[in-house]
Amino acid sequence: MQSRLVSLGSFAVALLMSSTAYAACDVQKSGDELTADEAQSIYDCLKSDLQTGYQNGPKRWIPADFVKDYPNWTQASAFPAAPGFHGGRFLMTYVNSIGADEYLKYKAENVTVPAGTRIAKESFSVDGDGKVSKGPLFLMEKVAGGKSPDTGDWYYMMVSPNGSPQAVNVITACSECHLENFGEQGGLGYPVEDARIK
Ligand code: HEC
Repeated sequence: MQSRLVSLGSFAVALLMSSTAYAACDVQKSGDELTADEAQSIYDCLKSDLQTGYQNGPKRWIPADFVKDYPNWTQASAFPAAPGFHGGRFLMTYVNSIGADEYLKYKAENVTVPAGTRIAKESFSVDGDGKVSKGPLFLMEKVAGGKSPDTGDWYYMMVSPNGSPQAVNVITACSECHLENFGEQGGLGYPVEDARIK
């Protein structure tokens, strides 16, 4: 998958700018070498503070209920996995009831995600020394057909670990990568195979 991914530049910068060290969950192992169970244990340690952090403060242009509600949605990752291109960043995906059935099929084509689908992806990283950092919350919302043709009718949003909404150029920082790499599958990247819900 790595070689298929483009426009990583601004994305990597945005990610670097919004990480927060979280020493309480550090491990004695490099992030690259963690097993699924070990990644899950770090997530269990971090989860409550990670989610509380995202909730802090006003969300401005991001719908407040989106951020408030996502922890109760359907979990779409079996455990937090790190797709290689992020270099050690682990991701946990949640999808609301409108989109859960279609998303959880992880279809490679003919994806018909209904308008109103909302997807939230939490992130954290574990570096080569086992140091854990909280990462941003990534959000996607499917809007009515024709409302945002440039982005495949997806709205993209991002919240930093301290809860502030992050202004990004959603075309270059989000949508280009999703559409160029995953256009065939409705703009969806999906968790790595091992981390999909069976
Ligand atoms: C360099 C390519 C790239 C860029 C840029 C990018 N993403 Fe993604 N995105 C992915 C990949 C790959 C996945 C699937 C990763 C996984 O879950 O393992 C994904 C998954 C997601 C998901 C879960 C839904 C899905 O597609 O399966 C959300 C939500 C998301 N991204 C939001 C964003 C937002 C918001 C931005 C901009 C701030 C962004 N992404 C920028 C590659 C990218």
